[in-house]
Amino acid sequence: MKDIYCLAIESSCDETSVSIVKNGTTEIATVTSTQIDIHALYGGVVPEIASRKHIENITIILNELLIKSKMKIEDIDFIAVTYGPGLIGSLLIGVMTAKTLSFIYKKPIVPVHHIAGHIYASNLTERLSFPLIALVVSGGHTELIYMDADYSFKKIGETLDDAVGEAYDKVGRILELPYPAGPKLDSLAHRGKDTYNLPTPLDDESYNFSFSGLKSACMNLKNTLSMKKEVLRKEDLAASFQNRVVKILVKKTIKAALEYNVKNIIIAGGVAANSGLRDELKKAAIDNSINLIIPDLKNCTDNATMIASAGYYAFLKNGASELDFNAKATESLF
Ligand code: KG4
Ligand code: ZN
Repeated sequence: MKDIYCLAIESSCDETSVSIVKNGTTEIATVTSTQIDIHALYGGVVPEIASRKHIENITIILNELLIKSKMKIEDIDFIAVTYGPGLIGSLLIGVMTAKTLSFIYKKPIVPVHHIAGHIYASNLTERLSFPLIALVVSGGHTELIYMDADYSFKKIGETLDDAVGEAYDKVGRILELPYPAGPKLDSLAHRGKDTYNLPTPLDDESYNFSFSGLKSACMNLKNTLSMKKEVLRKEDLAASFQNRVVKILVKKTIKAALEYNVKNIIIAGGVAANSGLRDELKKAAIDNSINLIIPDLKNCTDNATMIASAGYYAFLKNGASELDFNAKATESLF
């Protein structure tokens, strides 16, 4: 069978990323330009700055990609692009670039949901086997998803309030860590001990999650200690918080795998880079004879490689789109 090459573009938040992937599984080349340093000055992503930076970066990194891959756009079979959810101004830059390339070079175009992209990051590590349970943990999403085939998603549970990444970033701010706080809180947790008596979040029979109570408990602890003029041991609070989060994520993911009788679990999204989550889920998967696929660290945060992989299966399943689709700030995968 002829090889199929996908050129993908991701610009939903603060990374401008382009990638070429063969047959949905083999990365040929990827170029990503991150804006983290600029947004760190403001303590979070500034949407207006993000879209301006995407405009500045996109043609430069596309040229770099063609040089790195030693390919021409004529060699590409189809174009995939993140159309949502995300920051609308940022999404529009990627979508307009993809549409322009599709029009000029007469290439089919495939709009890809950002979370589908995160799920397919694992497909670049190992070809997905179905049925599977996907634990999606990013800055904006926390969901348990059942998949019985490629590009088929059924939600079985979700957060009722904060997403995990959001909770990490907010508790990081309580600990006065710079943006993005998630990775820094993760490394702080490794230097501390689980000594603080924090609540276990929504430990019930459902597949839903809730992290706002845990976040508030961290804030209250800080205020109480400060009023009593006692020192807050930041490493210990980080370790206590991380243990509560990881424990409930692992518990409900394994429960879902057992109840849905699946032998495969994947984790997806920026928080899939969390070392505590990776380690504990690995142990639990071995204990329950479940195959766990963890994406490479470089594919956990936003990148176009995962969009190309998801785009390949979206293309096989649904074919190409007309050029009249829109970028969408909010969009459900289900
Ligand atoms: O998936 P992502 O790159 O962007 C969204 O689509 O939301 O996820 C970003 C989120 C941020 O909240 C960031 O703090 C969190 O992932 N994150 C982490 C770690 N690395 C990134 N959270 C906990 N531990 C980490 N190692
Ligand atoms: Zn993301």
